[in-house]
Amino acid sequence: MSVKLKDKEFEIFLSNENIDFRISELGSAITQDFSGQELILVGVLNGSFVFIADLCRKIDLQISTSFIKMSSYLGTESTGTVRSILGLEEKIEGKNVLIVEDIVDTGISMDYLLKALSALNPAKLSIVTLLHKPDAFQFNYTIDYVGFEIPNKFVVGYGLDYDGLGRNLPDIYQLSTP
Ligand code: IMP
Ligand code: MG
Repeated sequence: MSVKLKDKEFEIFLSNENIDFRISELGSAITQDFSGQELILVGVLNGSFVFIADLCRKIDLQISTSFIKMSSYLGTESTGTVRSILGLEEKIEGKNVLIVEDIVDTGISMDYLLKALSALNPAKLSIVTLLHKPDAFQFNYTIDYVGFEIPNKFVVGYGLDYDGLGRNLPDIYQLSTP
């Protein structure tokens, strides 16, 4: 199965069933690890909106959800600098915060976010990402929960976009190599 978005062809990579199953596992792990505690999920927009919607319903705890917006991507290449960050309304001081990302690629965006949120003195700051590209990762901070480690190739679907398109695809697709 393949899809075309603008000028690029993408091949099926992770099926929705596969993603669903893994998110249930992540939800169970998070539920266990934060048992008896409060937790704020902070979703990183735009990419994480599909993931956080599914993940939050697999966490059996009293959680609240909040969103933050940032962007470092233009087309299929990271620009290497975080170009914008849009506010967090909720007070996170002294609380357990779990950052919810669609993908940690170079890790630049997450590094920026970790610094920004640490400055607000949360009790505990953790990370869950659906996808991670270890070969592109330029940092050594711990990513607490990883859905799938994937090769260093551009992917779309399940919230991830190519130039704004493809976020609504239920499965995840990888850029075809011609
Ligand atoms: P990083 O700063 O390089 O780790 O990239 C962070 C952000 O870039 C992610 O949160 C995504 O929104 C976007 N991104 C990185 N890799 C991909 C990809 O393969 N497809 C779509 N978006 C991506
Ligand atoms: Mg993102």
